[in-house]
Amino acid sequence: MELIDAIQERKSIRGYLDRSVSQRVLRDVLQLATRAISAENAQPWEFAIVSGDVLKAISDDNIEHLRSGVTVDSSYDQLDGIYRRRRVDIAKQLYGAMGIAREDRPRRNWWLERGYRFFDAPAAIILYMDSSLDVSAYRFDMGCVTQNICLAAQAYGLGTCVEYQAVTYQDVLRKHLAIPESKYIVCAIAIGYPDPNFPANHVVSTREMLDNNTTWYGF
Ligand SMILES: Cc1cc2nc3c(=O)[nH]c(=O)nc-3n(C[C@H](O)[C@H](O)[C@H](O)COP(=O)(O)O)c2cc1C
Repeated sequence: MELIDAIQERKSIRGYLDRSVSQRVLRDVLQLATRAISAENAQPWEFAIVSGDVLKAISDDNIEHLRSGVTVDSSYDQLDGIYRRRRVDIAKQLYGAMGIAREDRPRRNWWLERGYRFFDAPAAIILYMDSSLDVSAYRFDMGCVTQNICLAAQAYGLGTCVEYQAVTYQDVLRKHLAIPESKYIVCAIAIGYPDPNFPANHVVSTREMLDNNTTWYGF
């Protein structure tokens, strides 16, 4: 796959085929992805790769927490202005593709819960880092390796969705995985073979016109 095609075609995949991903393939994806840049080559990333019964147990506990109304602080809920509008826009695109009406509470809940159970993907990658490195430079590095994973996955026919929803309840992840309190859990990546018939997988998210956020000097 050409690099330009991979970058152009990557999109979040929220519906997966019931087909497992081999440990070998996941290893290859991660091996490739860890060629990512990092500040001072610190490589702050650590991964927990989860599948099978363990993934099911985490998903079940996430859903139980969600249904019982366990709340957590979420700074990314506080979007304003243009950023809020973009969030609303992608939500509208996704709900539209799935045919979920604004007032359809049961279907909206169904959709919400899918995120908390990794969109029923056959595998998930939990990305975490040492808490001592939780400053902007190293968080940036986590983003770089995350993007690389998403791009590399495509070369193996895999789809991904980076997500915060599934790591909302850090206690759940720590219970099922050997991730100590000294580690900060950054995000999850649902990963698997995309279901071509899942409507939300056809959504192409919009991007701001480049000229609206770019300034050129000295040309
Ligand atoms: C750090 C991060 C967290 C995200 N969390 C979620 C999430 O919890 N649920 C979800 O459905 N998508 C999540 N996404 C996916 C974004 O919604 C998606 O990348 C964005 O809308 C652009 O769409 P695209 O990936 O298809 O280009 C997340 C993406 C990032 C980078």
